[in-house]
Amino acid sequence: MANSELRLGRIRPAPENFLSDEQIQSVKEGRRDFLRKAFLGASAAMAVPAMARAAGPGDPAILNLPAWTTSLGLPVAANPYGMPSKYERGLVRRESPGLTRVGGSSVAFTPLQGLFGIITPSGLHFERHHQGWHDVDPSQHRLMINGMVKTNAVFTMDDLMRLPSVSRIHFIECGANTGMEWGNVAVPTVQYSHGMLSCSEFTGVPLKAILDMCGADYKKGRFILAEGADGSSMTRTIPMEMVESGEVLVAYGMNGEMLRPENGYPLRLVVPGVQGVSWVKWLRRIEVGDKPWGAKDEAVHYIDLMPDGLHRQYSSVQECKSVITTPSGGQILLDKGFYNISGMAWSGRGKVTRVDVSVDGGINWRPARLETPVLSKAVTRFNVDWVWDGKPAILQSRAVDETGYVQPSYGQLRAVRGTKSIYHNNAIQSWKVVESGEVSNVQVL
Ligand code: MTE
Repeated sequence: MANSELRLGRIRPAPENFLSDEQIQSVKEGRRDFLRKAFLGASAAMAVPAMARAAGPGDPAILNLPAWTTSLGLPVAANPYGMPSKYERGLVRRESPGLTRVGGSSVAFTPLQGLFGIITPSGLHFERHHQGWHDVDPSQHRLMINGMVKTNAVFTMDDLMRLPSVSRIHFIECGANTGMEWGNVAVPTVQYSHGMLSCSEFTGVPLKAILDMCGADYKKGRFILAEGADGSSMTRTIPMEMVESGEVLVAYGMNGEMLRPENGYPLRLVVPGVQGVSWVKWLRRIEVGDKPWGAKDEAVHYIDLMPDGLHRQYSSVQECKSVITTPSGGQILLDKGFYNISGMAWSGRGKVTRVDVSVDGGINWRPARLETPVLSKAVTRFNVDWVWDGKPAILQSRAVDETGYVQPSYGQLRAVRGTKSIYHNNAIQSWKVVESGEVSNVQVL
């Protein structure tokens, strides 16, 4: 084993909060080209390697007893609801500067670069609102079932929480995730390129059980419409087969506690495998009907503009996709040596069965380790060992799901879909490592 293989590499995290207030203001005023320059400038400023202290003989950090070893700590319940360490305060949801003009109709991205395993901490679950969020009073919240049912019904939260419940782990990905990258590289870090993705354990009642109670007409009523209680008139059509499979949940729990207000408290729809927009938050009505509704968010938005100028509608299932989250854009490798390449893979059609990783831009591939659990329509964590020899490299991951579908390259995806879409970009992501150790976002066809 060469010397460099024995050494553990160190990573400098991606720059956080690097835009000044004035710079953010410029972006908000519409100078979007400025955004790119600001990111590049910030990455360059971070390129000077920090003199990160390496442990070694005589290291004072192990020789001297710190205050936390020689004094009394804080009492229990000092934080009645626990918070992350102050040393982790850079790891937060972030809005991409300049992406949207109004915070109430915007997105805050999950910091995928700092997460482990498959579960997204609830406080870091991405947020996507069309008309802002409210902390809805659960005692006043109602769910109505109407349309092609024998008995219309209105449920309180208490009614719903008394019904037999299930808990299941699933990913949710906005159809617009990676949407800025259709034409070319647009954002510097994995938080902004892939952070409209989260994975949680959801608890609730299968919608099928509620429709059964109301005597739904499954013969004629082949679709449902889900409606949210916010001001955005969020309404989405969902095919009845999905409901009949038992997978669609009327959920109130997330990661062992009630949903967070930003994520639909007290009630949201969970539609495993389907793009996030169908996971209607603050769910207040389900209508059973015999045809798709063609609501605004399915006729004008969340559709795919194809190269021949036609729009493709109702392409809701999130196809198999993966991304390396570390090393990733904006980070800096400080030394040659060993790195654990780690990432996430998911498929809206079932389980991920394989992830291959390339460090030479797709010439050679080797299988990554899929860490357990590997669940259907959930994030799967993968890892692979890598020894960086200090030379330029391009890191990529390519996932395969249980249907045999292989995640496409940008070249393959664009050959079918063109470059004018916003939604459903599941192309292979490439991170370029240069000799200085800087990692940046590039596209390989
Ligand atoms: N439901 C309502 N009522 N209002 C919304 O704005 N946004 C949708 C969906 N459900 C939305 C909604 C979109 S576009 C997405 S991607 C997901 O919620 C985001 O869910 P999250 O904010 O919990 O991440």
